[in-house]
Amino acid sequence: MRLLFIGDIVGRPGRRVLAENLGKIKDSLKVNAVVANAENVAGGNGITKNIAETLFKYGIDAITLGDHTWDQRCFESEIDSIENLCRPANLPGKNPGKEYVIIEKDGFKLGIFSLLGQTLMKLKANCPYEAADRIIDALKDKCDAVFLDFHAETTSEKVSMAWHLDGRAAVVAGTHTHIPTADARIFPQGLAYITDVGMTGPWNSCLGRKWDVILQKFLDGRPRSFVMAEGDERICACIFDIDKASGRSLEISPFVYPPFPRTKSEAEANAPCENIGNSDEVSQ
Ligand SMILES: [Fe+2]
Ligand SMILES: [Fe+2]
Repeated sequence: MRLLFIGDIVGRPGRRVLAENLGKIKDSLKVNAVVANAENVAGGNGITKNIAETLFKYGIDAITLGDHTWDQRCFESEIDSIENLCRPANLPGKNPGKEYVIIEKDGFKLGIFSLLGQTLMKLKANCPYEAADRIIDALKDKCDAVFLDFHAETTSEKVSMAWHLDGRAAVVAGTHTHIPTADARIFPQGLAYITDVGMTGPWNSCLGRKWDVILQKFLDGRPRSFVMAEGDERICACIFDIDKASGRSLEISPFVYPPFPRTKSEAEANAPCENIGNSDEVSQ
């Protein structure tokens, strides 16, 4: 099973870069299944059923979320009607939505869930390690392998989850920081791990928001609303090759598409670096 996991899709720029490129990436990399974190897909804040259905049409098979799950008010009443989408499994139990989903692709059943970290997160969440135990128990007789999107701020929480689940899950893939990390590796018992996959959206930005607004806030300390950015759109993602018989990972391969400029001449040939206005359709 070759799984493609796409990091936090941010707004219309994130949707646009996927619409233009996901099909050819799936074909060229011979991908069997696609999972995406879409917690920022609606103007940077949350998701709606309508946008989820658009993502499924692009070729995404299942959607995970994070601390922005409830940013769009209408979503509380929509979430239970969306089949292949789950909210973080360690939210308090009274929240609507599924704790996990199982997709079947080419005879391989993949169990998928997400968890929130507890450090520096705005949404109240229960212990992610206990929740991981509970969900893995629920999934173990229902699927061939288990995938976890661990949506957390701190690297220590994330790498601790990898040690906690090595031997029981195929993947712990981190999201939320929007910056891809260089630590992709296979743990001793076959768990594929990366601290953060990164953001799919506009890189002419600070984490998807207009960079000059964030910079001004750092400079003068005054609060501002963070406006969606545009331009220099890239996909941050990771390929996981998972063995059906063992439910463990064989290989992990993160990538950024198109790749970041690494020389002055590549940067000069890149997208314009002025701060383009907000064109997203969902209000902040
Ligand atoms: Fe995010
Ligand atoms: Fe987040």
